[in-house]
Amino acid sequence: MSQSQRPANPSAAEAAAAAGAVAAAAAGAPLGAGRAAVGTRLDPWLSSYAERTRSMTASEIRALFAVANRPEVVSLAGGMPYLPALPLDVIAGIAQRLIAERGAVALQYGSGQGEEVLREQIVQVMREQQIHASPEDVVVTTGSQQALDLVARVFLDPGDVVVAEAPSYVGALNVFRSYQADVVHVPLDADGLQPQALEEALVALEAAGRRAKFLYTVPNHHNPAGVTLSAARRPQVLEVARRHGLLVLEDDPYALLGFDGDPLPAMRSLDADGVIHLGSFSKTLAPGFRLGWAVAPHAVREKLVMAAEASVLCPTSFGQLAVAEYLSTYDWKGQVKTFRELYRERRDATLQALATHLPMTTWTQPKGGFYVWVTLPEGLDATAMLPRAVTARVAYVPGTAFYADDQGRQHLRLSYCFPTAERIQEGVRRLAGVVQAELETQAMFGTPLHGHPHLHHGSGDAPGPELA
Ligand SMILES: Cc1ncc(COP(=O)(O)O)c(C=O)c1O
Repeated sequence: MSQSQRPANPSAAEAAAAAGAVAAAAAGAPLGAGRAAVGTRLDPWLSSYAERTRSMTASEIRALFAVANRPEVVSLAGGMPYLPALPLDVIAGIAQRLIAERGAVALQYGSGQGEEVLREQIVQVMREQQIHASPEDVVVTTGSQQALDLVARVFLDPGDVVVAEAPSYVGALNVFRSYQADVVHVPLDADGLQPQALEEALVALEAAGRRAKFLYTVPNHHNPAGVTLSAARRPQVLEVARRHGLLVLEDDPYALLGFDGDPLPAMRSLDADGVIHLGSFSKTLAPGFRLGWAVAPHAVREKLVMAAEASVLCPTSFGQLAVAEYLSTYDWKGQVKTFRELYRERRDATLQALATHLPMTTWTQPKGGFYVWVTLPEGLDATAMLPRAVTARVAYVPGTAFYADDQGRQHLRLSYCFPTAERIQEGVRRLAGVVQAELETQAMFGTPLHGHPHLHHGSGDAPGPELA
């Protein structure tokens, strides 16, 4: 990216850096797992790094998350699935048999596109969302995170535009940033992405002589907003995209984790030529397998396979064969139901605790998935408030992580997937104490506790999700 292409607003770059720091935690990696990149002034290679590494910076938020990992802190920050609910004995048996009986295949290199036996199973899994594909259409990836990287690698040159929801999954923003793309945010509300706002954003881009390469969207149980794109809006969004020649990247790891009835038809099921659909086994089985997939129009799929081979040669053979065996021999749908019921209870506990302890805030009503998006009272800043929250032994992800620009300060994401209902209630109670203290300071001095003027930017022009 040339100097002129860099964000003119230094606060945008700062927000980008903060988002980078919390990406791993927000995506579900253990908090504090990364080593803080301290002492860069002593780095002898500083002048050698590629331009794209400019956004790969650590911030003080990372250090806070290292503390948040301690047992006395209730972490409502990470998106880690609750793996104690898995049939670990069954998976251990599969792994043991796989090595004993087919070890020389399971531990060998495999195909860049992925094992056919798993691709056949993925086709079955996608039927739940009314996607009719053949195993040849599927590319197995190292988690859907790698699929995001591959799509970006195949489509994005520096300075290209990606249209994405406001807010958006922090791991995707990090990928787009690392390919030096410009993200243009489009607001969502309780029914997901707003088609009219998408239309307006595309018209404005075209008027400025720019064309977006693709729309990035998480239609089901959005991370971080906790909303779902309504059935009525799906064809509308696709119609706008088609009219503007815009490819749609449908990132869909939470589709099967809805609490009320069957999943909605995937966008891919409505437009096979215009949609790249990404799925994952991370939320319905286990992220440790690092297995996801992409289903793409034929020509795109070929490019994705070539990019995947350049990146990892092939996904894990062992993991693919183990997951294929699990899907074909175990009641995986029953297991997904177990997860759904567990997360539904925790969602209920979260909403109940918010209503009891934080009536001065507003929040979304997730109908599935892991997350609820909270809006603080006017003037409060979730990024600035985080150190106080961690001191009060509760952690969340500040809203700024989920925007490519300086929006989101009034918002925060709570994850209810991992802590028990009791821990969630305690965590929200602690958070309420922190918010209350901020409000009291604001009432007394006309400003919250954190006095730096930069921290008092509002949540930006684009509205966040519609609040319940
Ligand atoms: C919306 C979204 N996309 C992709 C991912 C990455 O998941 P995976 O473990 O499949 O790489 C996540 C993880 O939290 C996510 O929330």
